[in-house]
Amino acid sequence: MVQPRRDMVLQGDCVEMMRQLDDASVDMIFADPPYNLQLGQSVLMRPDHSAVDGIDSGDTWDQFGSFEAYDHFTTAWLAEARRVLKPDGTIWVIGSYHNIFRVGTVMQNLGFWTLNDVIWLKSNPMPNFRGRRMTNAHETLIWASRDRKSRYTFNYQAMKTFNDDRQLRSDWWLPICSGNERLKHDGEKAHPTQKPEALLQRVILASTRPGDVVLDPFFGTGTTGVVAKRLRRHWIGVEADSDYVNLAEARIKSTRAIGDPDLLETPERRDEVKIPFGALLEQGLIQPGDELISEKGDYRAKVRVDGSLKAGQVSGSIHSLAAQLLGRQSCNGWTFWYTKKNRKAVLIDALRQEARTRLGL
Ligand SMILES: C[S@@+](CC[C@H](N)C(=O)[O-])C[C@H]1O[C@@H](n2cnc3c(N)ncnc32)[C@H](O)[C@@H]1O
Repeated sequence: MVQPRRDMVLQGDCVEMMRQLDDASVDMIFADPPYNLQLGQSVLMRPDHSAVDGIDSGDTWDQFGSFEAYDHFTTAWLAEARRVLKPDGTIWVIGSYHNIFRVGTVMQNLGFWTLNDVIWLKSNPMPNFRGRRMTNAHETLIWASRDRKSRYTFNYQAMKTFNDDRQLRSDWWLPICSGNERLKHDGEKAHPTQKPEALLQRVILASTRPGDVVLDPFFGTGTTGVVAKRLRRHWIGVEADSDYVNLAEARIKSTRAIGDPDLLETPERRDEVKIPFGALLEQGLIQPGDELISEKGDYRAKVRVDGSLKAGQVSGSIHSLAAQLLGRQSCNGWTFWYTKKNRKAVLIDALRQEARTRLGL
C-alpha cells in the first residue's frame, strides 16, 4: 500500500480513499459527515418544513433513502476511519439530532470509546420559522478514542489556560461561520455547511500535538486543513465534490502556518519536571530573609534558609503556611505567594519558570 503524501486533498468517496491509507497512520480524525437531512424528501427541508438556506435539491450528498442506508454508509466509513487511526488516536464526529444518535451507536458498536459529547451552542442559530418546534440551537460532537485503553492526547492544561484557568467544559458557545470567514461564490454561500474555524481550533488544540496527522474524510471547504496548517499539524482531506476540493485547496494555500514553533508549545503541568521552592534559593532568585506577600497584601512571610516560610508564630512550606493562614486543608503556594522584583509584585510561579529555564529543563 502506497501512503499518499500528507497535507493534500484526496478527491473521491471517503471509504475508497481511506483504503489508500495505511493502518494506524493518523493521530486524529475530525468528521463532519452528511447529516442525512433529506431522508425521503426531494427538497432539503428543516423540521419545520422550510427550505434550508443555501442547500438546494442539487446538493445530493446529504440524501439517503432510508435509515438503513445511512447506517450502512456510517458503518462503512467509521470502520475505515478506525483502521487508519493509531491505537492512541481519537476521533471527533459532529452531527445534529438528525444523525448523531445513529452515529454514536455505530461508533460504540465498532469499539470506539466515548470520551465526551460536546455541545456546540450556537450563539446565532437560524430561527425556527414556523414555530412548531424549538429553535435548534446546537450541534453535538462525539469525541472518542480508538479503544477503551487508548492513551490518547488531551492537552488539559492548554485548554484550561485557553479558558482563563478554568477547566474547559463540554458546552462550547460559538457563533456559526459568517462574515469574512464564510466563503462566497457569486454572492451566495460557497458551501452550505462550512464550520467555523474557532470550532476546529478547539478540537485540534485539545487533542493533537504539533506535527500530528489530522484526517478529515468529509473535507468540504477544508476548514480542518486550514486550522491544522495554521497550528502546524499535518492534514489529509477527503472530499467527493471537485468544486469543494478546489475551494479547499485555494483556501489552504492562502493560509499561513504560525511562524515561531515556540508559540505552539502547550506544555502540560504534569509533563513538567518538578522544581522545589528550595531551587529558587539555590538559583539566587529568592534570598533567605526575603518577604513573600499574598496577592492583596493580607498575608506576609519571611523566607528561611531551608526554603520554609515563617509568619509570626506559624511556619511551614510555601503550601502548608498558606493553607494554615487561610484556614484551609491545602493551598498551592506557587500561585499564592508574590515577591518584589524591581518594585513589582511577581508570582513565585513565574520565578519557577525562570529556574527551569536556567536549569535547562
Ligand atoms: C457537512 S459537509 C463538511 C463541511 C466541512 N466541515 C467544512 O467546514 O466545510 C460534508 C462534506 O462531505 C462531502 N461528502 C459527502 N459524502 C461524501 C463521501 N462519501 N466521501 C467524501 N466526501 C463526501 C460533501 O461533498 C460535503 O462537502
